[in-house]
Amino acid sequence: MDISDFREMYLKELQEARSVERQLVDALPRMHDAASDDGLKQALKKHLDETRSHLDQVERLLGEHDANPREHQDQSMRSLVAESEKWAGMLNDGALRDAGLIASAQRIEHYEIAVYGTLACWAKQLGLDEDLEALLAILEQEKAADDALSEFAKRDVNPKAQ
Ligand SMILES: [Fe+2]
Repeated sequence: MDISDFREMYLKELQEARSVERQLVDALPRMHDAASDDGLKQALKKHLDETRSHLDQVERLLGEHDANPREHQDQSMRSLVAESEKWAGMLNDGALRDAGLIASAQRIEHYEIAVYGTLACWAKQLGLDEDLEALLAILEQEKAADDALSEFAKRDVNPKAQ
C-alpha cells in the first residue's frame, strides 16, 4: 500500500502504536507470572494497567480519525516479545530471570519511547493538538516506567543475581 501524505503516514504509525500496546497487554501478564520478586511483580502489574490505558487512548485517537485500529501488526514488537519469552525460558534461577525480565521490559520501553517520540513530533507538525497532548502524556508514562525499572534493577534485583 502506498502512503502519499504526511497525515496518512502519521495514522499508519498510530496504528503501529496500537499494535504495540495490544501485544504488550498480552505479554505483560506472562512476564508478571515469570517474575519472582514481589516488587518486580508489582511494577509489571502497574505497567499493565498503564498499557491498557495507552491502548484505550490510542484506539480513541484512531477512532477520531476514522482509522481502522486493527489494520497492522507491528513485527518489531512481535520479535521483542518473542525474544523476551525465549530468554526468560532459558533462565531457571529466579534472581537471574528477574534481571533478564527487566532487561527485556526496558528494551520494550525504549521501543515504545521511540514510537511515541516520533508520533508526538509528527502530531505537532500536523497541528493535531489533542493527539499531541495524549501522546506526550503516554510518552511521559513510558519514560517513568523505564526509569523505575532502572532503579529497581540496580537497587533490588541485579544485586541478587549471582
Ligand atoms: Fe505503553
